[in-house]
Amino acid sequence: MNKSSKSIHQSLAPSTHPPIVVANWKMHFGQAETVTRLSSLRTKLKTFSHDVKVVVCPSFTSLPAAKTLGPSIVHLGAQDVFWDERGAYTGEVSPLMLSELGVEYVIIGHSERRQLMGETDVMIGRKMISALAHGMMPILCVGETADERRQQRHERVVANQLQRALRSLPPPPRHRRLYVAYEPIWAVGTGQPADPAAALSMAELIRQTLVDLYGGPLVDSSFRTLYGGSVDSANITQYVHPGGFTGALVGTASLEPASFVTILKAVKKVFA
Ligand code: PGA
Repeated sequence: MNKSSKSIHQSLAPSTHPPIVVANWKMHFGQAETVTRLSSLRTKLKTFSHDVKVVVCPSFTSLPAAKTLGPSIVHLGAQDVFWDERGAYTGEVSPLMLSELGVEYVIIGHSERRQLMGETDVMIGRKMISALAHGMMPILCVGETADERRQQRHERVVANQLQRALRSLPPPPRHRRLYVAYEPIWAVGTGQPADPAAALSMAELIRQTLVDLYGGPLVDSSFRTLYGGSVDSANITQYVHPGGFTGALVGTASLEPASFVTILKAVKKVFA
């Protein structure tokens, strides 16, 4: 797909949905540090409107501490979930345990889990079903490696990841939200974000793959597409804007509350 950025902008209908920005804090902070950073973020966002959805995904062990801060404009997400509710699954975390902690969003199939922990599309598909069955909104990560892009296989790879993760999933009811994060693996944590036009072309591919699976009306009502991979306050609006991605998944630049707030304000401005 070698379309110019202009034609891509035209082919993705301007979004009427509020943008969403998700912070992935990975394996960075324990309970005390999570509370300090989350409190600082909440304070900085006191006057921030609900026009932008804000989600923070701390480590599993920090979720209870995060929950003690009470409800706020900052929603709570988890970085993974297991597919069964209970049983002999040493080290896994049940969807029931996450629901109990007020977790509303869950990242599924992050490239670090696929690459380092050997997660397969089948496992990811089961986790998608689990999240939805327990009322959590999944953020399904897809993306190609540098080699796959070099070999021009990126579109096939991403379409396959989507089809395999979603094929056992019944069509979601219209009021449910499912997020698909396009995260090219070579852009995650490298400081080398994807070319915005190339990323938007992948957003278009993702949308078309979803439309083939579920039909246009359901995709428009239930699915949102995010970009992730070296997002910062200087580049965020090249990806997230009306006619572009509906949101972003942010790692490194979300760790400092001040830098994350700059990203949120930039998103708010571009959708105002
Ligand atoms: P990054 O991480 O922003 O540091 O590239 C993104 C992610 O892992 O989701």
